[in-house]
Amino acid sequence: MKGVFPIKTFETTDTPFYYYDTDLLRKTLRAIIDEIGKYENYNVHYAVKANANPKLLNIICQAGLGVDCVSGGEIMAALNAGFSPDKIVFAGVGKSDKEIKLGLDKGIYCFNVESIPELEVINQLAEQCGKVASIALRINPNVSAHTHANITTGLAENKFGIAMSDMDDVIAKALAMKNVKFMGLHFHIGSQILDMGDFVALCNRINDLQAQLETHHIKIDLINVGGGLGIDYNHPNRVPIPDFKSYFETYAKHLKLRKGQSLHFELGRSVVGQCGSLITKVLYVKQGSFKKFAIVDAGMTDLIRPALYQAYHKIENISNDESLETYDVVGPICESSDVFAKAIDLNECHRGDLIAIRSAGAYGEIMASQYNCRPLPKGYIKEEMI
Ligand code: LLP
Repeated sequence: MKGVFPIKTFETTDTPFYYYDTDLLRKTLRAIIDEIGKYENYNVHYAVKANANPKLLNIICQAGLGVDCVSGGEIMAALNAGFSPDKIVFAGVGKSDKEIKLGLDKGIYCFNVESIPELEVINQLAEQCGKVASIALRINPNVSAHTHANITTGLAENKFGIAMSDMDDVIAKALAMKNVKFMGLHFHIGSQILDMGDFVALCNRINDLQAQLETHHIKIDLINVGGGLGIDYNHPNRVPIPDFKSYFETYAKHLKLRKGQSLHFELGRSVVGQCGSLITKVLYVKQGSFKKFAIVDAGMTDLIRPALYQAYHKIENISNDESLETYDVVGPICESSDVFAKAIDLNECHRGDLIAIRSAGAYGEIMASQYNCRPLPKGYIKEEMI
């Protein structure tokens, strides 16, 4: 089964480009809203890092989600797309003074703080501008996630967050500060997680930490569990919408929220991943000594995930249904790692055929670069292609 695309319009559009199926995005957002509607105080902040295309941000904003930003640039992108400051959380292990001031100035909902020095700087800068910054402390839960080593973040060896053993001291420091308001705890264990057991492990850890805080009579208003829900890269057509039901149910079942506490999620990939495809054209079909190459006009500059993480993306020849042949699909960049897939079956490729690299809505367009002086790929939404 292949995806359904407006081929006629694609044929007259310069490749490579990203194509976003906004109907699927809207359905995905509806699924999220329906699921969180079943619980009290569940809030989803879309992780802007996954894709900051203004048209997508605007649709996500209209659906009523908040945002999770990790830079001043992302805060501005979110504000420009219409998100209100009180729906913005700001995370990141290295926030600059300028970015912190921007957050203070705009009055964002919460800073997710990752170290004592950062806490001190936020307190100082807030004092200078006569404000009180709401903060959550990002705790490194030392929970391992079953995902790619480069995208696991919740292990003690990772650079993220405050060590659990320091939590009580840091909270005491925060509570003593005049210009920060301590709101709660933030976590994130990694990305592309499909094993709900990993989230259960996080819930168990948070339950222990809450119990520990209560022995010190410390109450918290919010818990932010980060993002990480994965998508089905193998079956973008069969499983276009991730299993949000099981995901939120896992938290409802295993996390012991106290009365009045709000629970926050920072979902990126699961929101936008499946709605995006990178559309590229076959430039040449080359017979090598041992294999056949389909050389396409998109490269690792347009979608770096296969080169960086050996990530799998389903690839389809959307121009014809001829018999299958085996190809390495490679880009034009002067790097041996500029390979989208090795030894995959595609309908026979000819010069000019359109190729869809699927499940590329998250960490695709946003991670594009201009290496080799290539232009950045454009992103089109369905409405623009009819
Ligand atoms: N919250 C925090 C604190 C994060 O670090 C991340 C992702 C998210 C939320 C969103 O996670 P998601 O729901 O998208 O899994 N470039 C890599 C992924 C890097 C993820 C970084 N942090 C990739 O292409 O797989």
